[in-house]
Amino acid sequence: VVDIRKFYAETGMFTYDPGFTSTGSCESAITYIDGDAGVLTHRGYNITDLAENCSFLEVAYLLLNGDLPNRTEFEGFERAITLHTMVHEQIHKFFEGFRRDAHPMAVMCGVVGGLAAFYHDSTDIDDAHHRMIASHRLIAKMPTIAAWAHKYAMGQPLMYPRNDLRYASDFLHMMFAVPCEPYHVSPVLSKAMDRILILHADHEQNASTSTVRLTGSSGANPFACVAAGIASLWGPAHGGANEAVLTMLTQIGTLDRVPEYVKRAKDKDDPFRLMGFGHRVYKNYDPRAKIMARTCHEVLEELGVKDPLLDVAMELERIALEDEYFIEKKLYPNVDFYSGIIFKAMGIPVSMFTAIFALARTTGWVAQWNEMITDPVQKIGRPRQLFRGKDHRDFVPMDKR
Ligand code: ACO
Repeated sequence: VVDIRKFYAETGMFTYDPGFTSTGSCESAITYIDGDAGVLTHRGYNITDLAENCSFLEVAYLLLNGDLPNRTEFEGFERAITLHTMVHEQIHKFFEGFRRDAHPMAVMCGVVGGLAAFYHDSTDIDDAHHRMIASHRLIAKMPTIAAWAHKYAMGQPLMYPRNDLRYASDFLHMMFAVPCEPYHVSPVLSKAMDRILILHADHEQNASTSTVRLTGSSGANPFACVAAGIASLWGPAHGGANEAVLTMLTQIGTLDRVPEYVKRAKDKDDPFRLMGFGHRVYKNYDPRAKIMARTCHEVLEELGVKDPLLDVAMELERIALEDEYFIEKKLYPNVDFYSGIIFKAMGIPVSMFTAIFALARTTGWVAQWNEMITDPVQKIGRPRQLFRGKDHRDFVPMDKR
């Protein structure tokens, strides 16, 4: 067995791997992906079983603690989460500092980073109790913060959490309720939202999770780490893709224009890509995309919504999956392909899509952060570089340059 660290120290050699396509950064027992087979498991449980049989908070417990909870454990966990759904009253003022048309992800980066300023009593990362409280706080407060970002943009009063509601229902309540009339959370929407949250809960060492780990490796507090994760998730090649999918489907607009866009996606001189297609790890159907497609049909049927964008999406999928280019490059729909259509049917604005992804992924981030902090071989993350700059230059004073 080669001691890699000793080898690096002695030889000064390192691996040059832009985009970390073949570099493992950590050991983890949380999530497993077999990209060729299209398999995703959390702590050994298949994602399809979890999405069909569990609530989001059950999956959150599983990711954090390693096992599915029994009834008593679950009730204790749910109680612990509901204890923390409120945010400090002064955080209202944070929201007021943003422009009304600010992107919710910009608001979330700021507000979540700012949580460390309010919750000092859970930022000692060497203390297991602090780590647990911070994890609960982040999972509990994220729906409140995301919903408030939406309410603020709408110019509506911010709705306080209701602890008599389950996690997904409470989020929908904070998104859509107004103080002047009663709001009943639809069980269909609540179930669909819960399932969407499960499907986005964790996905091993993707860009945002790696960002959370790298940030945390310096000893930064968990609120700052999750704020960094939110920033990374925002990009259109990552969590921003669900927003980009809906924009693309709207641009395509009608079935007859689908072939034109498939052609553009194949053109090397055109930067256009089919949003919601392709994945760094899956070279097969993303198992989450299959569940998402099914959920999309269920939600639209239950709501009696006929969305022509769903027809465009299905036609795009059909044509792309029969096309040589997509077959050869193993480009299949990913989790983001259908989620936007569901969100749209629910009345959620496009700008909130990635924010909801962030709220779901917070569970994975805190589970991965806890795993990293308690890993005895963990060191500060410090990638190397292949230096391509100038070798040596003689200094020239400014008036001689
Ligand atoms: N449409 C058209 N061609 C594509 C697409 C696409 N969506 N995705 C990849 N390709 C092509 C590339 O042009 C490239 O072709 P080449 O080998 O001839 O140069 C080849 O497939 C490999 O693509 P890479 O970008 O090298 O693959 P990588 O693993 O780096 O990227 C990614 C994966 C970012 C997801 C990419 O497939 C993409 O941009 N997809 C669209 C955005 C998207 O849906 N992102 C969501 C990802 S899932 C998530 O974050 C939850």
